[in-house]
Amino acid sequence: MPPRKTSRPPPYAARNQSSIPIPPALRNLLRRDKLRTIVLGFLGFLTIIWLLRRMGGGSGGAAAVIGSGAPVVIVTVIDPRANSAWVEKVKRNREDYASRHGYATFFPNNTDYPLKSSPLSWAKVPAVRHAMALNPRATFFWYLDSTALIMNPSIAIHSHLLTPARLEKLMIVNEPVVPPDSVIKTFGNLKGDRIDVVVTQDKEGITQSSFVVRNGEWAKYFLDAWFDPIYRSYNFQKAEAHALEHIVQWHGTILAKLALVPQNLFNSYASGPAHPKNGQYREGDLVAVFPGCDRDKRNCADEMQAFFDVLEGKNKDSQN
Ligand SMILES: *[C@@H]1O[C@H](CO)[C@@H](O)[C@H](O)[C@H]1NC(C)=O
Repeated sequence: MPPRKTSRPPPYAARNQSSIPIPPALRNLLRRDKLRTIVLGFLGFLTIIWLLRRMGGGSGGAAAVIGSGAPVVIVTVIDPRANSAWVEKVKRNREDYASRHGYATFFPNNTDYPLKSSPLSWAKVPAVRHAMALNPRATFFWYLDSTALIMNPSIAIHSHLLTPARLEKLMIVNEPVVPPDSVIKTFGNLKGDRIDVVVTQDKEGITQSSFVVRNGEWAKYFLDAWFDPIYRSYNFQKAEAHALEHIVQWHGTILAKLALVPQNLFNSYASGPAHPKNGQYREGDLVAVFPGCDRDKRNCADEMQAFFDVLEGKNKDSQN
């Protein structure tokens, strides 16, 4: 059978359509232009798909709208080798508080994350990330170290500290990130609704025994930047605490999302190097921290005992 004629015109026909001969360089350029149009069109298409997915709440099926879940998820990383009676009391301390305010809790083990040879204290960073994956609708994630106790459960952190108006009122501006004299200072004029991470300083610098991140893409970026393998292998003297100070000082984009608030709002120290102005625990404060009670030869259960007694006494009072 002879080959059938195609409807496609022979290659020279197209060239002949144009009466002006096109030089090859220009022809390449035109072709590249067409290619660019196709690529841009495709990217635009992907963007629309992405936006639609985001509006639909991502791949989770049911719409996971941030803010429609628990206002706060409290994350406390547990050392499975610690005294289990004490661990139970620490968990109950968070659970009692959470149930009072409609919050959620999350207690992963510090052995749950691949930290290789980095200190286990790093586990707090992937733990918060993990809590975000488990609670996509929650608004805030409050990391509260196991060395801390909630002492005033009547204070709801989401309304007492984390509203835009409260943050704007409470944030400390123009303060050296690392006291006393780092040249990098916290920004002023930040809008409370743009704040995505809330921290405090003790006498030595930004602490990580108690901090809050707001659910969202930015917080994921922040936690991933903090957890960068370079920082983990760098052997900062105070591991993740110094890594946090490093990223806050070197990335203006992070500082622009950060509120530094007085230490006693959610990180008062019952012992140790409290901020000289506002770090020392006083009765009525939301939290009492016993920094380092889980290290060396110290014993958190013993150090916290008097505070547990106070809490249990208070609980009895409120029942009578
Ligand atoms: C943490 O470790 C303890 C003791 O090994 C175990 O009983 C518990 O189930 C673990 N918790 C989680 C959340 O994996």
